[in-house]
Amino acid sequence: MSETSKAIPLQAIRGMNDILPPDSARWVWLEDKLRALMARYGYDNVRTPIVEPTALFVRGLGAATDIVEKEMYSFEDTMNGDQLTLRPENTAGVVRAVAEHNLLYDGGKRLWYIGAMFRHERPQKGRYRQFHQFGAEALGYAGPDVDAELILMCRALWRELGLVEGRDVRLELNSLGQPDERCAHREALITHFEQHIDRLDDDARRRLHGNPLRILDSKNASMHPVLDSAPMLIDFLGADSLAHLQAVRDVLDAAGLEYRVNPRLVRGLDYYNLTTFEWTTDRLGAQGTVCGGGRYDTLIEQLGGKPAPAVGFALGIERLLLLLDEAAVTPPAAGPMVYAIVPGAAVLTRALLTVEALRSAGVSVLMHLGGHSMKTQFKRADASGARYALVFGEDEVARGEVALKFLRNEAEPQRTLALASVAEWARELLKA
Ligand code: HAM
Repeated sequence: MSETSKAIPLQAIRGMNDILPPDSARWVWLEDKLRALMARYGYDNVRTPIVEPTALFVRGLGAATDIVEKEMYSFEDTMNGDQLTLRPENTAGVVRAVAEHNLLYDGGKRLWYIGAMFRHERPQKGRYRQFHQFGAEALGYAGPDVDAELILMCRALWRELGLVEGRDVRLELNSLGQPDERCAHREALITHFEQHIDRLDDDARRRLHGNPLRILDSKNASMHPVLDSAPMLIDFLGADSLAHLQAVRDVLDAAGLEYRVNPRLVRGLDYYNLTTFEWTTDRLGAQGTVCGGGRYDTLIEQLGGKPAPAVGFALGIERLLLLLDEAAVTPPAAGPMVYAIVPGAAVLTRALLTVEALRSAGVSVLMHLGGHSMKTQFKRADASGARYALVFGEDEVARGEVALKFLRNEAEPQRTLALASVAEWARELLKA
């Protein structure tokens, strides 16, 4: 290695972040909550590869979507020339796995995942190139009941995390109908935009015939009058689609969940039909969509599986954690229960074995490592957030004892405990 190459510090790729302590503790806290939530709803975990064939996303998400057009990390496998892509989302991967392993042979499956996704977007607060999604997918179920269940599941999560609906998060709901209904709407949309072609920007003109629906998504304020007067898909929905939407609404109404039907809600992926929804917040500026999802009844067949309906959503973990910050929700401090203070090498073995016994009884113990004075060790014990310090003084240990000091409550007297009965006082500590 040359001197210069040694001197250049290596850095993480722009838009891809290290998640370090103490912040990583918030991730673990949130992931634990998500796992517990999924257990309560009877969803099973699924883990699919981060790298998939590029064709999966081109076929699954739609060639004219922003993600496929300009945000995918695609590359050629130099070993065999395969075209590969780092997954920009995980619905397509889950559907591929479900089709490949014929997972729906005995009925529906409810699955969830947490993992890294990759999109080559311009990084900013709440928008990264590597980000993490938690997602839930219910495959093989056609009814509005499961759409409603997924939305209620989101609400249960917000409540459990201490977020307030209406203040921190809001639900927007829409129906994208069925392909033939969208086709009729699309024709009407093209006719409308053609009539106002002089008022469309370049981006919109380019999309006019390929993906006119996405023009509705434009942030260009000068086009808003044309967008506002555009025909709305909801007016093209047939009786079945309207009944599906109404059935979802009935459950949400009965559950007292407030939402806004937003006929302009178009998701950034082509696989959706019928129910679509987003949970948004105005606490995160431009990156206000925390969670999004909907039905994708044709995707499984499109990707080569036996036809089966499906619905799901995904939420951005980074955005949710930012939102929790903004809403001043702080996870409980996660220090160890006990900090083990080890004044000298003579007691080290005894101390190590004692804390092992404590840990196997369920007590969390942070062992002081690397020597240091008693003063330093007590300082570290305080900083660790531990409730107790367990002091392995040489004299005490020689007598078969150890001292327990209360770090958070000065008034509590120090206690002397017998090393022989660790399991007994471990139980006491856990009860306290
Ligand atoms: P999506 O709306 O593209 O949907 O992404 C879902 C969520 O991921 C967003 O609401 C946002 O919170 C987060 N997210 C997206 N891009 C970024 C980024 N660059 N940085 C940080 N967070 C981001 C999907 O991906 C669908 N697969 C959802 C779904 C599941 N639909 C049905 N099943």
